[in-house]
Amino acid sequence: MAYGPDQILEGLGKSDYERYIRTPELLSLQKSPDEWLHRDELLFAITHQTAELWLKLAVSEAYQIANYLAEDDIRMALRLVPRILMCVDYADKGMAMLDQMTPWDYQQVRRALGHGSGFDSPGFNAIRKAIPTLGKEFHRLLEKEGVPLLTIFLEHEKYDELFSLAQALLEIDQAMFMWRQRHFKIVERSIGTKVSGTQGTPVEVLSKLNSFNFFPELWDIRTTITNHAIAEEGEN
Ligand code: HEM
Repeated sequence: MAYGPDQILEGLGKSDYERYIRTPELLSLQKSPDEWLHRDELLFAITHQTAELWLKLAVSEAYQIANYLAEDDIRMALRLVPRILMCVDYADKGMAMLDQMTPWDYQQVRRALGHGSGFDSPGFNAIRKAIPTLGKEFHRLLEKEGVPLLTIFLEHEKYDELFSLAQALLEIDQAMFMWRQRHFKIVERSIGTKVSGTQGTPVEVLSKLNSFNFFPELWDIRTTITNHAIAEEGEN
């Protein structure tokens, strides 16, 4: 019998760590140096691949949250919200690596991208679909409670769970907004704003998307609250 650590998992790799984490597959997902048009292809690929992974986790957590909400379990749903926020934040923070790439070097990398465009990002497109399901459940819960949106803000102690959920949705919306703003700056630094992307979309289109909100009603309610306070002052 040979001495050595027992490997009990099936798969590629020399150790159970490699087999479980699937490092052979993972580390073969980037082009090798002899395939690069430019060495920054590795930086570019890893920044995008890690963003896709964080977004994959965010999407999975979002559907877990939606399932808890569908069972009227706001407390458990709220426990998972920080995970989405962290995932989006990591995708956001990871973009700083692209600041290290010069605009000219990006032009060399770009030649390797074909028509590859962020509009086709599976992670981003999936999170874009998942987030509205949370809003749908939130409004169902409001209706079930028979309480208008304004009331949960004015009486937030009484409606603590619904109010906390409204705040959590706003945080998610804000995290996505911050990602877009950061991404826009990366685009501006790399290629400028008066040009078109790899699929011919003018970059100006992105600046319009910058102001998109998933839950406009949760932002508008702030104005309603201010006007409510002004009206109340007027009565006194
Ligand atoms: C140097 C780096 C980058 C450049 C120059 C760049 C450029 C662009 C451009 C020009 C667009 C507009 C659509 C198009 O024409 O393709 C776009 C959209 C997009 N990009 Fe990037 N991008 C960069 C990094 C990233 C990273 C790291 C991600 C992370 C996944 C990403 C994800 C996206 C997404 C999701 C969209 C669609 C945005 C939306 O629908 O609001 N991009 N990008």
